Amino acid sequence: MLTLKFTKDCLMFKDIAKDDLEQILNLYNQNEKNIYATGIDRLMSLEDIHEKYLEVLVSSYEFFTGIFLHNDGSADSSKLIGVVKGRIDYENSEEAWISSVLIDNRYQHQGIGTKSVNAIVNHLNHAYDIKKFFIGIISGNSIGRCFWQNMGFNYLRTIEQYMTLNHHAEDFIIMQKEISQK
Ligand SMILES: CC(C)(COP(=O)(O)OP(=O)(O)OC[C@H]1O[C@@H](n2cnc3c(N)ncnc32)[C@H](O)[C@@H]1OP(=O)(O)O)[C@@H](O)C(=O)NCCC(=O)NCCS
Repeated sequence: MLTLKFTKDCLMFKDIAKDDLEQILNLYNQNEKNIYATGIDRLMSLEDIHEKYLEVLVSSYEFFTGIFLHNDGSADSSKLIGVVKGRIDYENSEEAWISSVLIDNRYQHQGIGTKSVNAIVNHLNHAYDIKKFFIGIISGNSIGRCFWQNMGFNYLRTIEQYMTLNHHAEDFIIMQKEISQK
């Protein structure tokens, strides 16, 4: 796993550990909209999440980072409120993909998603010299599209009829953001 560990204001970012998986599963299964963060047309199982975790664990390019809220600065009192998953491109080390961002329902629309993505993008830019970031989003995810647009991601291309979700063929929209300087 590509290790990420840093804090930004009251948020702490650190690698997901095996003990966190049940909590992560609960986050993914909080509501039907989170299908957009999993790309699976059903509730996730513990086996699904273990499989995803193992894939990340064996790759030095992939990150699976927990977003923890900590009010008094101590790791012990921190609370898992979200997750970001992605990877540095295998062929072009100046590029990275953010494949999934998920914020606990109870903490959404408070600016935490924006703060978290900005923190991860800046960290990857400084620590690994990543200059270009890509995300892919399912066309039906209008909140997600607004979110990435607000984050300064621009439309790149569409892969038509990429997958079926809730019996609908959904396109996959790829967006990118370039960081001009470190
Ligand atoms: C998308 C997501 C990560 C945003 O996290 P968040 O912490 O709520 O985001 P922010 O509070 O920073 O909001 C940023 C922007 O996202 C959009 N947004 C977030 N929640 C929204 C909502 N309920 N309705 C409409 N727009 C919303 C808005 O454009 C918002 O900007 P604004 O506050 O100026 O209106 C979160 O909604 C989520 O986890 N969704 C489910 C999974 C998902 O779709 N992930 C993205 C695809 S991988």
